[in-house]
Amino acid sequence: MSLALHTDHALTDANTLGLPCVAEHHAAPATLAELREALALAQRHDWPLTVLGGGSNLILPERLEGLVIQPAMGQWWLEEHGDSVLVHAEAAVPWHALVMALAQRELWGAENLALIPGHCGAAPIQNIGAYGVELSDLLESVHLVHLDDGREAVLSAADCAFGYRDSVFKGALEGRVVITRLVLRVSRTPRPRLGYGDLASRLDAEPTALAVAQAVCAIRGEKLPDPATLCNAGSFFKNPLVDGERARRLLAEHPAMPNFPQPDGRVKLAAGWLIDRCGLKGWRRGHFGVHDRQALVLVHFGGGSADELLGFAGEVAARVRERFGVSLEREPRWAGV
Ligand code: EPU
Repeated sequence: MSLALHTDHALTDANTLGLPCVAEHHAAPATLAELREALALAQRHDWPLTVLGGGSNLILPERLEGLVIQPAMGQWWLEEHGDSVLVHAEAAVPWHALVMALAQRELWGAENLALIPGHCGAAPIQNIGAYGVELSDLLESVHLVHLDDGREAVLSAADCAFGYRDSVFKGALEGRVVITRLVLRVSRTPRPRLGYGDLASRLDAEPTALAVAQAVCAIRGEKLPDPATLCNAGSFFKNPLVDGERARRLLAEHPAMPNFPQPDGRVKLAAGWLIDRCGLKGWRRGHFGVHDRQALVLVHFGGGSADELLGFAGEVAARVRERFGVSLEREPRWAGV
C-alpha cells in the first residue's frame, strides 16, 4: 500500500485558527489513486470522512473521529487558447502562490484575490471573494471525486450554484465530495478591476496585473492579521443582507453606515462596521478577541477551544442584534459532526 495513514494525528498546526484538534486517522493522498485508496479504506472500516484543505476557513472540534483526508495533489499548468488561458490547479496548490504566479505572467483575472489564505481545493466552497471579484468570475469548472464510491465528476461553474460566500459545496454536495482540481479562465488582455475601496488610488492609470496583486497585498496587510503570527480565519461573519425597508430605517439613524444595494432590492451591510460601532473593535475576552484593525475578524491568542470561540462569537453577534436588529451569520465552516 502506497498511502501513508497516521493515527491520532494533531491538526492544531493545520488550521489557521490554531484550535487544538486530533484526527483519529489522517491521510494526505498525493494522487487520485491514493485518494481512492483512502476512500476505500474508510468504507471498509466504516469511518466517517472529513476533508481538510488549508484549514483557513474552518472551526475544528477537539477530536475528529474517522478519517481526515487532506489532499496533497499540488501541480498546476496552463492550457493556451490564444488570448485566454485555462489554468488547471490541483487541490493542494496554495491559492495565493497561484495568484502571484499568474500575475507575474501578466495573466489577468485572479489578481484582486491575492493574499487569500488556503488551498485551491477549498476556494469554490465559500466562493472566495475580495476587492470586487469572486472566484466565480473566473472559474470554468471543478473536478471532484465522490466520497461514497470514488467516482470522478466535473462540474461547470453553473452547476456550482455560486452566490456570495456560497456554493453547492455548502448545500447539496456538503460532506459528499472532495474537490481535486479547479480550472480557471484568465486573460492576456489587461482588464483591471479597481472599483473597490481605495484600490485605484494606489495604482497608475494602466497598472500591470502584478501591480494590482501587490496593491491588494498591501491593503490586506494593513487591515488583516497574518495567520502565521496571530491565529484567525479571516472574516468570521458574512456581510448581512437586509431588506430595503430595514436598510432605510437604519440609514436614517446612521447616515454614515456603509451599504451596498443588491439587484434583488436587498441591501448588503458591512458586518465589520456594525461590530465596530458596537465598540467591540479590539475587545478581548479569555483567549479570543475582535481584531483591532478589522472588526470582522476574530483572533485567537492561543490556549482557547472551539467552544469558547463559538461562545465569544455568539456574544459579538448578540451585541450587534441588540444595537441594530441585524443577525450575523458565521462564515467559517464547523468541521465537527
Ligand atoms: N469597517 C469599519 N470597521 C471595521 C471594518 C470595516 O468601519 O472594523 C467598514 C469599512 O470602513 C468599510 C466597510 O466596513 O466602509 C467594509 O469594510 P472592508 O472594505 O474592510 O470589507 P469587509 O466588507 O469588512 C469584505 C470581505 C473580506 C474582503 C473585503 C475586501 C466578507 C465577509 N469579507 O470585508 O474577505 O477581503 O471585503 O473585499 O465579505 C474573508 O472573507 O476572510 C475576507 C477577509
